[in-house]
Amino acid sequence: MMKVVLAGCGAMSKHWLDAVKQIDGLAVVGLVDLDAERAQARGREYALSNAVIGTSLDAVLDQTKPDAVFDIVVPAARLEVALSAFSHNCHLLTEKPLADSPDNARAIIEAARSAGRIHAVVQNRRYVANVRRIRRFLDSGAIGAPTSIHADFFVAPHFGGFREEMAHVLLLDMAIHTFDAARYMVAGEPASVYCQEWEPANSWYRQGSSASAVFEFGGGKVFTYAGSWCADGFRTSWESEWRIVAERGSLTWDGHDAVKAEVVVPGRDGLFGKTEPIEVPPLDPADRVGGHLGIIQDFMQAVETGTEPETRGADNIRSLAMVFGAIESAETGRRATISAQEGQ
Ligand SMILES: NC(=O)c1ccc[n+]([C@@H]2O[C@H](COP(=O)([O-])OP(=O)(O)OC[C@H]3O[C@@H](n4cnc5c(N)ncnc54)[C@H](O)[C@@H]3O)[C@@H](O)[C@H]2O)c1
Repeated sequence: MMKVVLAGCGAMSKHWLDAVKQIDGLAVVGLVDLDAERAQARGREYALSNAVIGTSLDAVLDQTKPDAVFDIVVPAARLEVALSAFSHNCHLLTEKPLADSPDNARAIIEAARSAGRIHAVVQNRRYVANVRRIRRFLDSGAIGAPTSIHADFFVAPHFGGFREEMAHVLLLDMAIHTFDAARYMVAGEPASVYCQEWEPANSWYRQGSSASAVFEFGGGKVFTYAGSWCADGFRTSWESEWRIVAERGSLTWDGHDAVKAEVVVPGRDGLFGKTEPIEVPPLDPADRVGGHLGIIQDFMQAVETGTEPETRGADNIRSLAMVFGAIESAETGRRATISAQEGQ
């Protein structure tokens, strides 16, 4: 039985606990939140009557001595929670983003390394079936090597809470999903970025609800991102709307169920090269999916077998480097280099 303490009992903790309910061999032995009433409410809701409830993670870890910490706190508290977990010899599965600054991200990775503990991030868009299908389809070479990737993200949620107060909210709290998915789908490593943020006149966010970025992915491959959390009307999917252009065709994904591809065939149609539809194969049974549930199961397996999980912090920091590169560019007005030194 793997014992875990869950820190942060806000909105997202419900998704975690719904997933945890479905997993055998996992016991929640503690619930922590700065707001004790929230932790107690989750305990009642999920019938965790034996769980120790507290407002201090250190104190609950001292008392329960778990194998792992599940971190679902706000990004600003990520470092504090990680250091507490590792100093108690716990493995750590953390919500995205891995950290709220480049220095804190490096400090967390370093602390995991020196404690010799597994550290992984819930970068759950990788565990979406269509993301896996697209990666395999592109890897197969069916439409040649990708030359550009384009993602549009336009939704208008009224969250309240920490998001309406934080800086660079779209880049830091949401775009990390899209950036990580882009990096994964085309197996690219970002080299540089130019980004501009803006605040619509009607914005209900403090700063950074909207951003547009152009990344260079090496070998001339470009990734363009346009997004806003303050865009009413014609809402896109939370997964974004995608177009991937390759040497011999293109793929589009509406972010829901429609993944379509066209491949170049011999001949011309007036000005244009001829294309025809090509099937994007269904999900390969070997591919891991299932959002939070899949990630938690893979984390547990990594802990049990001592292997590194796919969304390990030391790799995820490269996706986070795209976020911080975009923020640096937005702040300076200049193209920012994205360091290949991040992670390993
Ligand atoms: N993976 C996803 O799809 C996804 C979706 C939504 C949110 N998230 C992430 O989940 C995290 C939490 O988001 P949320 O919507 O649940 O926020 P929330 O504000 O609803 O909940 C966060 C909770 O953390 C608690 N907290 C803050 N600092 C703490 C500390 N030091 N110790 C213990 N508790 C502390 C707060 O009191 C609050 O109850 C964020 O990082 C967010 O980006 C991920």
